[in-house]
Amino acid sequence: RGLIEQGVRTFRLSVTAGEKEFVPGTASQTIGIEAPYLGPTLDMRRGERVRFHIDNQLSEDVTVHWHGFELPAAADGGPHQVIRPGKRWSPSYEVRQRASLYWCHSHLHGRSGPQVYAGLAAPIYVRDDEEERLGLPSEYGVDDIPLIVQDRVIDGSGRIIYPLNMRTRMMGVKGDALYVNGTRNALFEARTGQVRLRILNGSNARFYTFSLEGNRSMQLVASDGGLLASAHSVRSVILAPGERAQVVIDLSDGRPLRLLAHRPGNTMGMMGGRGRGMMGSRETRGGDVVPILDIRPTGSFAAAQLPADLVSLPPPDPSLAALTRRFVLAMGMMGRGMSINGATMDMNVVNTRVPVGQWEIWEIVNASMMAHPFHIHNVQFRVLDRDGKAPPPMETGFKDTVIVHSREQVRLLLRFEEHTDPDLPYMYHCHILEHEDAGMMGQFVVI
Ligand code: C2O
Ligand code: CU
Ligand code: CU
Repeated sequence: RGLIEQGVRTFRLSVTAGEKEFVPGTASQTIGIEAPYLGPTLDMRRGERVRFHIDNQLSEDVTVHWHGFELPAAADGGPHQVIRPGKRWSPSYEVRQRASLYWCHSHLHGRSGPQVYAGLAAPIYVRDDEEERLGLPSEYGVDDIPLIVQDRVIDGSGRIIYPLNMRTRMMGVKGDALYVNGTRNALFEARTGQVRLRILNGSNARFYTFSLEGNRSMQLVASDGGLLASAHSVRSVILAPGERAQVVIDLSDGRPLRLLAHRPGNTMGMMGGRGRGMMGSRETRGGDVVPILDIRPTGSFAAAQLPADLVSLPPPDPSLAALTRRFVLAMGMMGRGMSINGATMDMNVVNTRVPVGQWEIWEIVNASMMAHPFHIHNVQFRVLDRDGKAPPPMETGFKDTVIVHSREQVRLLLRFEEHTDPDLPYMYHCHILEHEDAGMMGQFVVI
């Protein structure tokens, strides 16, 4: 839906109410972007200027936030860029991001949870020359597909419900039914020997460990903000809400593959105890494993090799940092007292002022008893360490959302390269949307 207008590519998008059958035969009320539920993949190119005309056709306020993008605060689509019912919002920016999978979603203050849950989200592909030279699978829908993984609560009548209560305010809203791009038990018929899966955890609160049936390996090639230095052969990938990963899978032997999602238990057993390491925390242990996507090759294909090296990505250098800022995540009892550095989100308070261009270490400390995915707007950061230990391969590239386990301390290296605005803030927050809505969010300006 792009059209060229003075070197600016314009997207016209409407946010509308829709209906979708999560269970065949029963329609649920949904929200979508140019679709009854979710939205089309927006295809962008690094370096191009884009403009959007976003019409809110709902009878409630919405916002559309560009998750993972470095852009002017006025174009960010956070809680301050509200689109009233019947109104249009027309942000414009230059696409600065490296090639990767990003996404857009509602960020309405206090209402992100229900709106994203109803479907107000869409995937974004950013492409660039650097990536195209590598010859990775990149034909959309053929050997390169986005997978938006979401869980939904289905009631007795077959409709999705958003159960907000004392317990879900605290633990987040988690459902038993898993959907990929809005489809249950999805099937993909592959016509090539290699397929790139761009996985987005678009769930409100659930963490997943993704793997292939039979413990087959996948080549991990990218994290949130772009390609890794090299492909890593992995058996599983953990994603918290907001995080993305890209894997290339091999179908050259003609055997079908099945993508599994391990859902850690969402019982109160998750509470208490110290989270230990990526595999050992309460958010990744216990629970069950469910198939979410069948990949069926339609023939047998020539084996293909990935290039040994992908992009140049020198390790982050903490000695660049002019200062360290500390952010302590805490939760009170009964879903109250969600806070960062003791403060609950207040639309009228700017919590942090950051000089543009300055390298900084942000030290995220989780003082609570459950894990939180910490997300920062307007930046792609690097992970320095977790409790002093080097991060796993998945965290060696650019990230915008990072898991911080209970009692853990994660250090990030970052710099806001431009887009100063002394008045209009960006957000940092927990990406469990019920926590964000309850105020585990803060505001910063780049000056
Ligand atoms: Cu994906 Cu501030 O959000
Ligand atoms: Cu964001
Ligand atoms: Cu949280």
